[in-house]
Amino acid sequence: MRLDTLIQEKSVIVVCGAGGVGKTTASSAMGLAAARMGRRALVLTIDPARRLAQALGIPPTGKEPVQITSELLASAGVTLAPGGELSAWMLDPRVVLESVVDRFAPSPEDAMRIRSTRLYQALGEVVSGLQEYTAAEALFEFYQMGKYELLILDTPPSRNALDFLDAPRRLARFLDERTIAILTPRAAGRSNPVVRAAAKVVRTALSRAFGESFADELEVFLGAFSKLFSRMRDHATGVRELLTSSEASFVVVTSPDEAALSEALYFRDRIGQLGLVSDGFVLNRSYASNQAICRPSEVECSAAPQLAAALRTLSPLAEVESTRLLKDRQLLAQLIQKSVDVGGQGALALPFLDEAVEDLAALKLLSAHMMPIVT
Ligand SMILES: Nc1ncnc2c1ncn2[C@@H]1O[C@H](COP(=O)(O)OP(=O)(O)O)[C@@H](O)[C@H]1O
Ligand SMILES: [Mg+2]
Repeated sequence: MRLDTLIQEKSVIVVCGAGGVGKTTASSAMGLAAARMGRRALVLTIDPARRLAQALGIPPTGKEPVQITSELLASAGVTLAPGGELSAWMLDPRVVLESVVDRFAPSPEDAMRIRSTRLYQALGEVVSGLQEYTAAEALFEFYQMGKYELLILDTPPSRNALDFLDAPRRLARFLDERTIAILTPRAAGRSNPVVRAAAKVVRTALSRAFGESFADELEVFLGAFSKLFSRMRDHATGVRELLTSSEASFVVVTSPDEAALSEALYFRDRIGQLGLVSDGFVLNRSYASNQAICRPSEVECSAAPQLAAALRTLSPLAEVESTRLLKDRQLLAQLIQKSVDVGGQGALALPFLDEAVEDLAALKLLSAHMMPIVT
């Protein structure tokens, strides 16, 4: 897969895959590769790799993206091409939701009222897919802002990660006008008698269960929120348009592990079902890109007999290595095929580093595999 081309040309790259395969790592490495190629890149992540974030100087719940400093880059020996910039943001769904409410509420007082309800505070539990929704919302906001040339979205570690494409619609459905009419007597007053009757029943039930004040809060919350709908729906359409456009790309990360591979195929298919094209796979923690090693038995050894003995001892180890390498190369070839089958570009292997990827130096190594010229 020409990941370098995607990194150079796209405006949005959505990275998905099973938990623990290296999505956050690959997303960060992609961001670094983009910056090294001279682009202004932002990595948006919901599921932070804490040590990596720490190493990059990113606070866990910042209100906005943080740019990786030139001192930090220099200390890891990373040089960016002119114009290149790397920023990262660990999305906190709550922070994003707050800014949504602030932006969309008709007045600051409305925003305050929404935020003070218990319902708003428990919204995360009430609306499924909220995390996904906030991710899409943040992505779209940054896109519209135009401050960054490439946005890389590291999706949440769940099978539902791509629900964010549906989430705005689902959120809108949850809060659709009929629901509101049933839950808020004032709105129900204007609707038909059946809805009015339902509203009365629901309100009585809610008051009994949670107390009169909860029913009042619900009314305030839904009343105020209802004003946001049409605008949120507009955004939902915008997000979809952006992600279905040729400016966006979907990449699935996997490890050579069987469970991860089957999840990767699940994501490939899910992307297809959503009417999108998955551009390819990143086979992380793989030996496929390692240099083929020379087996000790193949080494000319007319030298000292001790050396020959040492080589014989190493033989099983070398055997294990080359078997692993061959296996990963076969796997890579299969993944390439599985991507091409659905109109994608193929797959790219990232090496298994000796240590966890927790600093810029390690990211630099990985990013080199995503760039046309390895420097
Ligand atoms: N290519 C690699 N070589 C070595 N360790 C890796 C590699 N990719 C990821 N890791 C390590 O694996 C762990 C999980 O990676 P992470 O990117 O957080 O996964 P995910 O975001 O998919 O849950 C981290 O400790 C990370 O440092
Ligand atoms: Mg992650």
